Amino acid sequence: MILTITPGTSLRGEVHLPGDKSLSHRAALLAGLGEGDSRITNFLVSGVTRAMLDALSDLGVVWGLQGTTLEVRSAGIRGLRSPSTPVDCSNSATTLRLLAGALAAGGIPAVLDGTDGLRRRPMQRIVDPLQQMGADINSREGCAPLVLKKSTIPLRAIDHTLHVASAQVKTCLLLAALAADGATILREPGPSRDHTERMLRSMGYEIISQQVEETESSARVYLTRLNPPDELHLPPVNMKLPGDFSAAAFLIVAALVTPGSEITLHSVGLNPTRTGLLDVLLAMGADIQVSDRGEQYGEPVGSLHVRHSALSGTLVEGPLVVRMIDEFPAFAVAAAHARGLTVVRQATELRYKESDRITALCTELGKLGAAVQESPDGFTIQGQGGTAGGQVAAHGDHRLAMALAVAGLASRKAVRVQGAEMVAESFPDFVSTLARLGGKLQVEV
Ligand code: S3P
Repeated sequence: MILTITPGTSLRGEVHLPGDKSLSHRAALLAGLGEGDSRITNFLVSGVTRAMLDALSDLGVVWGLQGTTLEVRSAGIRGLRSPSTPVDCSNSATTLRLLAGALAAGGIPAVLDGTDGLRRRPMQRIVDPLQQMGADINSREGCAPLVLKKSTIPLRAIDHTLHVASAQVKTCLLLAALAADGATILREPGPSRDHTERMLRSMGYEIISQQVEETESSARVYLTRLNPPDELHLPPVNMKLPGDFSAAAFLIVAALVTPGSEITLHSVGLNPTRTGLLDVLLAMGADIQVSDRGEQYGEPVGSLHVRHSALSGTLVEGPLVVRMIDEFPAFAVAAAHARGLTVVRQATELRYKESDRITALCTELGKLGAAVQESPDGFTIQGQGGTAGGQVAAHGDHRLAMALAVAGLASRKAVRVQGAEMVAESFPDFVSTLARLGGKLQVEV
């Protein structure tokens, strides 16, 4: 699919965003592990969450969708069946990594696989600690397919250091740790999203999150400790999910860079481990007001009111990188439309996302006329108050496709995004939402 965005219109209106992707994955999986009937509203119905639901079907979990309400009936983690064929996790690393932890906890044999894109994502980061816990799991040269064989439960509790902050790895290990013989401790170099901890805590599990200083290196470490329950018996899930901040990010940047724009986004998830982009944009001079703050099933939410703003360049490094790990494509567009130098450092992890987001972003923004420079662990952008326009490619990456489309709203000429069908992976209503707000978009299939 080619998406053409013609500049010259402003964005105005109000939006209720689809449910959060990370929370949708977790809620569906925990519902599949819980015994009984679960109900999740404002569930994200998209390519990657469909992969999780189909995987649950393979394990014998029964579910139904009515619009964005997901109902799940499960016999619980002990009632899951071993799938007879490889589980297709499609393009979803979250599905694969979270399932690996859950299956290890249940001692359930399975093969976890997916698209060629998924087969390129690093998996040794979950295989090593799961093996230390006693799970019989192996990868093919550090990548999918992963083969899990029947292992003995309980697993061993571990004290494990993650070299890169990752909520997927942390969640995988926390799920496995539910079936461990003692307290599991995970140490991360940055504040990865804490949705799993919040959900497990609300189910009654004992999880402590704290920042500690390592005595040897005096580096700050983000520590998570889970005490396993006496008996592995998870309750059903009943939740209304907040709007996805990572989907909101594209609309926020779209309104900031498009002259005359003023939009309101309702019930957006504002978990502080996710909202690094807000802090950065505010520091760049963005006019964003937060109102109606509240809490929804343990997750902070609020409404965002965003107006077109003159932005200036900035520096992004350290823990901020983790708190906006999915937002760099949208952020880079804001930086190209800003005035002055933006520097992103300590962000090598971006190379291991749905695409190598450092190279792909720099290549494609460069095609649009932005002054970008790639570095091993990030990039610099000399903001010129906008981009020229042109033809770009999505590199099989939903977030790249959406960011490049947003660039088109305020470029001097139209932007044509090839491979734009990827938007359906996480934000199927992206095109219709932007069009409803006033964007001029044309789809060629
Ligand atoms: C996610 C964690 C992040 C993020 C991904 C979703 C999650 O990945 O990039 O889109 O739901 O836990 P990493 O854990 O690999 O950083």
